[in-house]
Amino acid sequence: MYVCVCNAVTDCQIREAYCDGACSMRLLRQKLGVAGCCGRCAPCARDVLLQCRQESERLESPAPVTAVSVDAAEEAPALEPVAVAG
Ligand code: FES
Repeated sequence: MYVCVCNAVTDCQIREAYCDGACSMRLLRQKLGVAGCCGRCAPCARDVLLQCRQESERLESPAPVTAVSVDAAEEAPALEPVAVAG
């Protein structure tokens, strides 16, 4: 969808720009011209940037420990001492 009508910038172009390093409104304005004319697109463009940040943070965070892995550790058999003949 078009985010910035004045400069014909879509949300897809904003996402691509974010991947190329335009991670702030200032950098987005420099790269695509977003919010450089009337400025009405600024809130929507900011929302797209926030979504990009949240998606990249979610992808970078480690997987949470699941209940299955905790249960498996609790069910592991206890080690018994072994008598050594000698
Ligand atoms: S709609 Fe983006 S500057 Fe006008």
